[in-house]
Order: sequence, then C-alpha cells, then structure tokens
Amino acid sequence: MKVQMKIHIQANYSLLYFLTWEEERALEKLDEISKELRRRFFVWSETKGLRNYVTDKPEEEDLNDPEALLDFIENFSGKGIFALLDFHEFLNDRTVKRRLKEVGQKLRKSHKNIVLVSATMNLPIELSKEVVVLDLDLPSVKEIGESLDKITETLKTKDVSVELPPNIREKIVKAGQGLTLIEFKNAIAKSLVTNQGLSHQTIPGILDEKKQLIRKTGILEYFEPNDTLKNVGGLENLKDWLTTRASAFSNRATEFGIPNPKGLLLVGVQGCGKSLTAKAVSSHWKLPLLRLDVGKIFHGYIGSSEANVRQVIQLAEAISPCILWIDEIEKGMSGTSSSGSTDGGTTSRVVSSLTTWLQEKTKPVFVIATANRIEILPPELLRKGRFDEIFFVDLPEQEAREEIFRIHVEKKNRNPEKFDITKLAEISEGFSGAEIEQAVISGLFEAFKEDRILKTEDIAKSIEETVPLSQMMKEEIQYLRNWAVLRARKASDRITN
Ligand SMILES: Nc1ncnc2c1ncn2[C@@H]1O[C@H](COP(=O)(O)OP(=O)(O)OP(=O)(O)O)[C@@H](O)[C@H]1O
Ligand SMILES: [Mg+2]
Repeated sequence: MKVQMKIHIQANYSLLYFLTWEEERALEKLDEISKELRRRFFVWSETKGLRNYVTDKPEEEDLNDPEALLDFIENFSGKGIFALLDFHEFLNDRTVKRRLKEVGQKLRKSHKNIVLVSATMNLPIELSKEVVVLDLDLPSVKEIGESLDKITETLKTKDVSVELPPNIREKIVKAGQGLTLIEFKNAIAKSLVTNQGLSHQTIPGILDEKKQLIRKTGILEYFEPNDTLKNVGGLENLKDWLTTRASAFSNRATEFGIPNPKGLLLVGVQGCGKSLTAKAVSSHWKLPLLRLDVGKIFHGYIGSSEANVRQVIQLAEAISPCILWIDEIEKGMSGTSSSGSTDGGTTSRVVSSLTTWLQEKTKPVFVIATANRIEILPPELLRKGRFDEIFFVDLPEQEAREEIFRIHVEKKNRNPEKFDITKLAEISEGFSGAEIEQAVISGLFEAFKEDRILKTEDIAKSIEETVPLSQMMKEEIQYLRNWAVLRARKASDRITN
C-alpha cells in the first residue's frame, strides 16, 4: 500500500520488503514517493546493475554484484531510495544476508532506504525482525478506471469502435477488480480481438479471465452461486440474521450508518446445511463468492503459507464487496499451540494473520466460515470481535424436517402436496438434511424400478432402512451441543420434537 510504504520510508525504516507481482507498478509508486519526499530513486537488478529510475542511466558501472552494491549504498551520500529487484534470491547466501543486516542497521540514522521488490516471500528468519514486509494492494477501482480511460483514448485515435456509456464503463471496471493492471490490459486486448471493439460484450471476457486467474492461485475458487435461502430448510434464526443484513453493503446502508457485517462462523452437525447456507448467502445478497480451501494454504508447493494468506486477503479485498467462504476452517489449523515445535510456527502465524485480519479488516469482505470439529478449532478464532456471531447448526426438528422434505421433493419436480410430509418428518427423527435428501433420491430409485409414480411409501421405506449418522455419533453430537450452549447462538430454536 502506497500510504503505508511512504510512512515507513519517511520514518527511516531502512529495510523494506515490497511483495507484489506488479514490479512496474511498484516502481511507479516508489518513484512518486521519492518525489514527494525529495529522495533520489535507484533501481538495481543483477542483470542491469544500479540505475537511476528517471533517466534509466547506470548510476555506477559494474555494480552487478550484490555485496558491491551494498557497499555502495552504505557509502552513498545523500537521500535515496534503493529498489532491489528479486534480491530475495541472494538472501540464501550467508555473507549477503549478514551484510544486508549490517547495512540496514547503519542506514537507520540516514535518509536512505532499501526496498526489496519481489513477487515471492523469502525472508530468512535472521532478517525477519529487521525487515518490514508490505504488500502492494491490487489496483483500486480508480486505477483500473484510469487505465481503461487511457486505453479508450488510444483506441479512439486508431478508429476502433468504442461504445462505453458510463454504466458499461463502470461494469467493465468492476469486472476488472482483483486483476493486476497488466492482467486487466491483457484481458481487454484479448477481448478487442474477439469483439472488434470495446462494448458491453467486453464484460464476460474479463470476468472469465478473472475466474481463471483466481483458480490459478490454487487456493481460491470463484464460485457460481445457484442456491437460494429458500432452499434451506429450518435454521430460521440464521436465515433471519442474513435476511436482515441483505443490503448492508449498499451505499445507502453505509450512509445510514450501518457498519459492514464482518462474518459468521457456522458450527454444527454434519450434513445439516452449513455449506448450503454459505452458498445461498451469496445469491441472496447478490455478491460474488470466493471459496477458500484452507488445506491448500499449507501446501508447500503452491507457495509459502504466509504468502498464500496474504494473497487470499489481497484478492478478496480487491474484489470486495464479496463473500469469502472458508469451508471447514479447522482443516489444517489443528494443533496451533503445539505447532511451534512441529512446523516452525507456520500454523500459528497463519492463524494469527487470519484472525488479525478478521478483527481489523475495513474492506467489505464478509467471511462465512464453517466448522465441524470444534476440538481442533484454534481458540483464538472464537474470541469476540472475529465474527459477528457464531451459530450452532443442529439436527433439524420436526417442522424443519418437513420443510427440508418439501424442498427436496420439489427439487425433483414433484408436488409436495401429494405426499404425507408430516409422517415422513415424524419417522425421520435424527436425520440430517443430507440424509433426508438421500431418502428422497432412494425413493425415486424405488419407484423407477417398479415403473410407477413416486409415493410417500417409497420415501418412507428408504427412511426405515437408513440408520442415521446421528445414531452412531450420539456422543459426538452431545459433545457439540454442550460446547455450543455457552459459545454459540442456535441457528434454530424451535423445540426439538
Ligand atoms: N437445512 C437444509 N435444507 C435443505 N437441504 C439441506 C439442509 N441441510 C442439508 N441439506 C442437503 O444436504 C446437502 C449437504 O449439506 P451441507 O453440505 O450444507 O452440509 P454441511 O452442514 O456443510 O455438512 P458437513 O459438515 O459435512 O460439511 C445440501 O447440499 C442439501 O442438499
Ligand atoms: Mg460442509
């Protein structure tokens, strides 16, 4: 973030790490800062040596060696910002690492700053206290807009057809949220080829590009919502909560003084509608849904865990207002307290950056997290201020089971009026929503086999043949309920049978 970067430079933090995929944009920002602070600005890379950013001329010949460079910076007289590109590669070298630390300490009393600009995070533990890591935020709506306007100007001079009334322009910009400027420009270029111009037809192309890029992170998925809250049976308290806040992210609500909802944690019995609700909120609130695979944050091959969390947060904030769905949040986060000894503290650092963000985020990203196994849930996630509310999702009682039967019978294009729903709900006590859905499907098989219409008896038969999970997991469910009494609100508080 530019403001953060400027504050740190001004306060003479001598070693900074600018984490970004957009080297060019990062350098532009640093150039602006250097002008504002009246410091000279140099860029170093191993291949080009040290250059003056403005003139692109070498400042000193033969400065390709990292140690020679650090000597030069140490002895440089005057005020200056030194951006070192991909310097993280050299930090594996013992001497360079040590030298950087020493130069950093010395520079604190000067008006010189070293900024490591890299796309990946590689900071040896010895330097972690000396170096401040900052992310370059993805482009703001304003920057994307300016970039689009520049493109339009250029196209007009080339006689390409450009039809961009303000509402279409706004939609294109919105579709571009979450992309880097280069990605945005590439997406536009691609669409120019297929659509022969800029118009409303450009929008789906950019959205597609965005979906692909999000998928490429390997951790996030852009989800197409198609469930609505109407398809969720029972859970009235939860649905009420969500319905009350349906327009909380609108400008009107903000002007009225309504704060952005932060998020919800849904804890509960398997197959009772946690994931279903998460998906349904997105279409109910008409906001894009990003699904985060927590397990993948910790997969070394995708990138370092901490960098992965940063990337997720950055993308979600850039796409906001949106919903970030963290399904099975406890996955991969187990054993936080003991992990200090097993994984060098990675798990606890990831949990702590996530919780800090949950607590302090100001951008309209609504987090909806689900969890089954409370015993491995990091306790810091449950503290006040992380989520607006923790809801406990229990097995559905009679009335909710009736609703769930109706929903699933209707989903199969049958009229619920033709079935004895009350009876089905009565005999399926202890069934989860998922098991009720399964009973309807098994009933269909039965009727199909005998080549006749689906009847109450078919569904009843499959209910009788099923032993619900809740019977085998009585103790676990009781444990969950006891846990929830003190810590969570009930998603439904109709009396159980
Ligand atoms: N309350 C409900 N209303 C309607 N359908 C439901 C309900 N609960 C579950 N179902 C059906 O069961 C399916 C599975 O439920 P879902 O994935 O939401 O369970 P979950 O609570 O996330 O379980 P898990 O803890 O195993 O992830 C849903 O897609 C839906 O078809
Ligand atoms: Mg689930």
